[in-house]
Amino acid sequence: MNGRMMKAYHITGTDGLASLQQVELPAPLPQHGEVQIRIRAVSLNYRDYMNVCGIRGVTGPIPRIPCSDGAGEVIAVGEGVSDWKPGDRVVIPFMPTWLDGGFTQANAALALGGAVDGLLREVECLPASSLLRIPEHLSFEEAASLPCAAVTAWDALFVRGNLQAGESVLVLGSGGVSTFALQFAKMAGARVLAITSSDDKATRLREMGADVTHNYRTDPAWDEWALAQTGGLGVDKVIEIGGPETLNRSIKATRFGGHIALIGVLTGTAGDIQTVGILRKGIRLDGVYVGSRAMFAQMLQAITQAGMHPVIDSTFEFDQAVAAFEHLASGKHFGKILIRL
Ligand SMILES: NC(=O)c1ccc[n+]([C@@H]2O[C@H](COP(=O)([O-])OP(=O)(O)OC[C@H]3O[C@@H](n4cnc5c(N)ncnc54)[C@H](OP(=O)(O)O)[C@@H]3O)[C@@H](O)[C@H]2O)c1
Repeated sequence: MNGRMMKAYHITGTDGLASLQQVELPAPLPQHGEVQIRIRAVSLNYRDYMNVCGIRGVTGPIPRIPCSDGAGEVIAVGEGVSDWKPGDRVVIPFMPTWLDGGFTQANAALALGGAVDGLLREVECLPASSLLRIPEHLSFEEAASLPCAAVTAWDALFVRGNLQAGESVLVLGSGGVSTFALQFAKMAGARVLAITSSDDKATRLREMGADVTHNYRTDPAWDEWALAQTGGLGVDKVIEIGGPETLNRSIKATRFGGHIALIGVLTGTAGDIQTVGILRKGIRLDGVYVGSRAMFAQMLQAITQAGMHPVIDSTFEFDQAVAAFEHLASGKHFGKILIRL
């Protein structure tokens, strides 16, 4: 790819998916300490859809290459790189500079596909220190499904939530974060309560290991349901991907001293929250923003030990990126949507 052009997508405006345009750009060359990667698969997150459509707006200048999550093959290394070689299969963390330790503003400022260009492109160069090896049992598509949704679920359950075997976890819906949370919680010996929009998806969630499921469309009082399922006490942990329109029910569904990982903005970014419920029950309400490379590495070890495979809903070709985003927006998916390069 040296001196060559590559295909990529640019966000070119804020007028919905029409602003997503395929372009040709010079392929970047690896600098000192960097690895040049041929991207083989990219997964979509709701955040990418928001950025592409200008719902929240990209946090940097336009044009911007979207998408945070990718996996690929090393094609060249820069000077000073000894731990990677051409042919190695690598997966790329959401924030390549957040290697370990606590979350910082500086790391957030380099989140791929938001503040800086992302991975919906054929070639990218990244610091050798940021990359992780793909477990042998995972394909490029499966590996590309992990950096945002899976690491977020891992951080929420095990780092922030300190999940213990035998505890109960409530997951909302059947998207990327929630299906990973379900898989990890079951691996850890937890009881999983899952709510979803359809009976078909409920069946699939139970097939994945959910202990009990509830259709929130036919019965919106899922907080009452969760309380009834836990003897009136409430669940130990909630994977809260909804935001303002679901948080009050999540607070009601949580036990005294329980933990809510506040992850998602599917129903907006601000709202009327019953703060007294958090106080009265001594709930730990914890904002989670993905996680570090160290968390990702630990998660990969657990995935390898368990022989776990991510739930892939569908895979689109590179030229069908707009259709892939339309599918995400439809809400018909179950698990992760991939684009193959
Ligand atoms: N903070 C972070 O680090 C972080 C990381 C990843 C994602 N996120 C955020 O988390 C949210 C989920 O992301 P994702 O990538 O997993 O999305 P996704 O794959 O698009 O999943 C969305 C699913 O959530 C369910 N859902 C939608 N509205 C709901 C509601 N009102 N109540 C319950 N479930 C509902 C639906 O599943 P059913 O049809 O089964 O109900 C829907 O298909 C997004 O807001 C995203 O921006 C945050």
